[in-house]
Amino acid sequence: MAGPQTATERKPIPDHVPPELVYDAQVTDGAEFLLAPHKYMAELHDKAPPIYYDPGSEHRPGAWQLLKYEDAYFALRRPEYFTTFGTGPFPRDPNDYWRILPLEVDPPDHRKYRALVDPLVTPKAIMAMEGRIRVLANDLLDNIVDKGECEFAKDFGRQLPVGVFLDLMGLPRNMMDEFVRWAMGLLHAQDKQIAIQVMGEVTVYLNKVIAEKRANPDEFLVSAIVNGKPGGEPMSDRETFGFVFFVFIAGLDTVFATLNNMWVWLAENPDRRQEIIDNPDNINNVVEELLRVFTVTFSGRTLTQDCEIRGVQMKKGDKVTSVLPACNYDEEIFPNAREVNFNRPRKPILAFAGGVHSCMGAHLARLEIKICLQEWLKRIPDFTLTPGTKIEYYPGGVVGPKSVPLSW
Ligand code: HEM
Repeated sequence: MAGPQTATERKPIPDHVPPELVYDAQVTDGAEFLLAPHKYMAELHDKAPPIYYDPGSEHRPGAWQLLKYEDAYFALRRPEYFTTFGTGPFPRDPNDYWRILPLEVDPPDHRKYRALVDPLVTPKAIMAMEGRIRVLANDLLDNIVDKGECEFAKDFGRQLPVGVFLDLMGLPRNMMDEFVRWAMGLLHAQDKQIAIQVMGEVTVYLNKVIAEKRANPDEFLVSAIVNGKPGGEPMSDRETFGFVFFVFIAGLDTVFATLNNMWVWLAENPDRRQEIIDNPDNINNVVEELLRVFTVTFSGRTLTQDCEIRGVQMKKGDKVTSVLPACNYDEEIFPNAREVNFNRPRKPILAFAGGVHSCMGAHLARLEIKICLQEWLKRIPDFTLTPGTKIEYYPGGVVGPKSVPLSW
C-alpha cells in the first residue's frame, strides 16, 4: 500500500532507465488523475508502456510502475526479488525506525506474524460478525433514511468500517468518532501539524490498549497480537506497536475509499442499481466486480537483486509499484475491462494484492461491502448525487472521494 502525502526530495532518474520508458503519469497526485482516477488508470494501458519509470514527485519517490496483471502477479509472488522492507505506507524517522508489521517482513519470518492474526480473519471467523454488521448498517441508516439526504462518507461510508473494525480489534464502539477523526487526520490532513498531533494521540491510545490487553487478554485481534509469540518469542514493544498500528492504518481508509467510490457509481447508475436489486443471488459477483473496477490501493516493493520483466532491466535498489487498480483493467485478463459486468467469468482480482502479503482483511472487507449494498439498497433503493455536486478525490495511496453528498 502506498501512503499518505509527505514531502520527499525528488531524486534523479537512474542511468539504467531508458528514456523511452520514462512516463510522468503522476498516478496518486496528478491533476488529470485526480479528476477521475479510475478512468485515468484504465486509460493508462492506452498511453503508457506496460512497464514504465515514473520519475516521482516531491510526495513520491521515482519507481517502476507495473500496469499488466501478469507482471504484478509475478512481482507479488517473488519476495526473493521484491522486498517490502521500508515500503510501508507511513513515513517514519530513519533514525528511530519501527517496522510496520506484518507488511515489512519478508518470508520466511513473515509467516510467523501472519499466523498470529490469520485465525481471527478466516471466512468462518468473519461470518460470525455478520449479524452485528447488519445491525450497525441499519442503525446508521435509521439516522438518515427519513432525512432524504446525507453526506455518505461522513454518515455511513466511514462510520460502518470503523464500528466493524473496533469489534474485530476488541475495542469499544464508543471510540467510533475518535477513530474516524484519527484515520482522517493521519492520512488526509492537509496540515502536517495536525497529522503529527493525531499521531501523538493514536500512539498514546494504542499503547494504553496494548498494556490493557497484556493484563487482560481476550479473544479479539489486539489481544492476539499483543500476547502473540511469533516463532515462540514475545515481540518487542516497538514490534507490537508497529503491528497494531498497521492494522489500524490498513483496515480503515481502504474500506472508506472503496465504499465511497462505489456509492458515487451507484448514485450515477440507476439501471445498474436496479440490476443489483433484481438479482440478489448474484451479490457476491457484484461485490467482486465493483472491487475490480474500484481498486483503491497499490503494492510498493524494492528490488533486492537485478531483475528483468518483459525485457525491462531493473536494478537492485529500484522501487517497483504494482499499479493494482490499472492491473484490474488489463484487457488480456478482463476482456472489455472498462465495462462493469456483474456476470463476468470470475478470475482472481488484484484489489487485495496477492502472494504472502495479500490483504489480511479481505474476507471482512468483502462481507462489509456485501452487507452495505444489501441493507442500503433495501432501504434507499433510489438516490442521486445531490445536484451540483462535483466529486473531488484525495491525493495519495488510497484512491477515494473526499465527500459524497446524496439525495433521495
Ligand atoms: C476494501 C478494503 C481493503 C483493501 C482494498 C485492502 C487492500 C490491501 C492490499 C492491496 C494489501 C497488500 C499491500 C501490499 O502488497 O503492499 C493489503 C494488505 C493488508 N491489509 Fe488490506 N485492504 C482492505 C481492507 C483491510 C482490512 C479491513 C484490514 C484489517 C482488518 C486490512 C489489513 C491488512 C493488513 C494487515 C495487510 C498486510 C498483510 C501482510 O503484509 O501480510 N485490510 N490490503
